[in-house]
Amino acid sequence: MKRICILPGDGIGPEVVGCAVSVLEAVAPGLELLHADIGQSAQIGHHSYLPDETIELMRTCDSTLFGAVTSSTDPEYTSPVLAFRKSLDLYANVRPVKSLVKNISRSAVDIVIVRENSEGLYHQQETVDAEGVTTYRRVTRRGCERIVDFAVEHARRRKRHKVCCVHKANVLRQSDALFLDVFRERMANAPDLESRDQLVDSAAMFLVTDPSRFDVMVTLNLYGDILSDVAAGVAGGLGFAPSGNIGPKHSVFEPAHGSAPDIAGKGVANPTATILAAAMMLDHIGMSHEAKDVEAAVSGAYSSGHLTVDLGGRHGSRSFTDHVIERLRA
Ligand code: IPM
Ligand code: MN
Repeated sequence: MKRICILPGDGIGPEVVGCAVSVLEAVAPGLELLHADIGQSAQIGHHSYLPDETIELMRTCDSTLFGAVTSSTDPEYTSPVLAFRKSLDLYANVRPVKSLVKNISRSAVDIVIVRENSEGLYHQQETVDAEGVTTYRRVTRRGCERIVDFAVEHARRRKRHKVCCVHKANVLRQSDALFLDVFRERMANAPDLESRDQLVDSAAMFLVTDPSRFDVMVTLNLYGDILSDVAAGVAGGLGFAPSGNIGPKHSVFEPAHGSAPDIAGKGVANPTATILAAAMMLDHIGMSHEAKDVEAAVSGAYSSGHLTVDLGGRHGSRSFTDHVIERLRA
């Protein structure tokens, strides 16, 4: 029996994860779901934003479904998200962005952003001197190789045909040039895939004006963070954007949005991103049939006009989820 760690977290996290858990229970009743604390609730109960018990459970489960955490002004605060990415070596962040509803997305989008998730500007080393602060940005050959290899493998498995490397090698003439060199080396051995590269600023523009140019995008950490929100915005908003943090041994799936404390507890958060993250998780643990069923139920809900209140519809988080489950059962 596969074991899944469930981390609801803060804000709307418990609501949207609760919805995704109901979907998992309907589509994959054999999964063992084990809940643990992360974020503010963990800080209150365990005096840690990412308790040892939680990270140990994540390590021993087949995968993790995570909601969101609210960052804190507490000077002791460090992001539990960055901490679990690091300690579980989740070096690849996969962010599929697909428009589900025509009149809500600005244009038709169907891309996958593969974001380097372990280094770059997230290296988190800063030094302070009299004049200001220097932030170190780390780009290693191995980091570049493994993310490009991941993107190539992902493209092949998903029957996608084009891979675009997004960089700023015209300015970052050592670090991003290393990334681009590695990309070109690796793509020379992938003649089945169309290979392109694009500067990050123009890639951001084209994501808005003509997203059909892109298929799989592979990029460094902060570029991927920003571009995935841009792409999600074009596709209709962060409410639709799932994400997977993947490493050699472990994986964590989550919605790309945050904890939205302003709407927490109101039952109106759009659970789509978390339900789609649960589908990505099912696919990752070898339950691709169940994953496809969930995706089809969600897109069927949208195409038949079952919209949540954030999109001008009448569904709250729960009634939207109930409708998705009805479709799964049908
Ligand atoms: C994301 C988030 C995180 C990031 C934050 C919460 C640290 O914005 O998953 O995109 O910057 O990677
Ligand atoms: Mn982000």
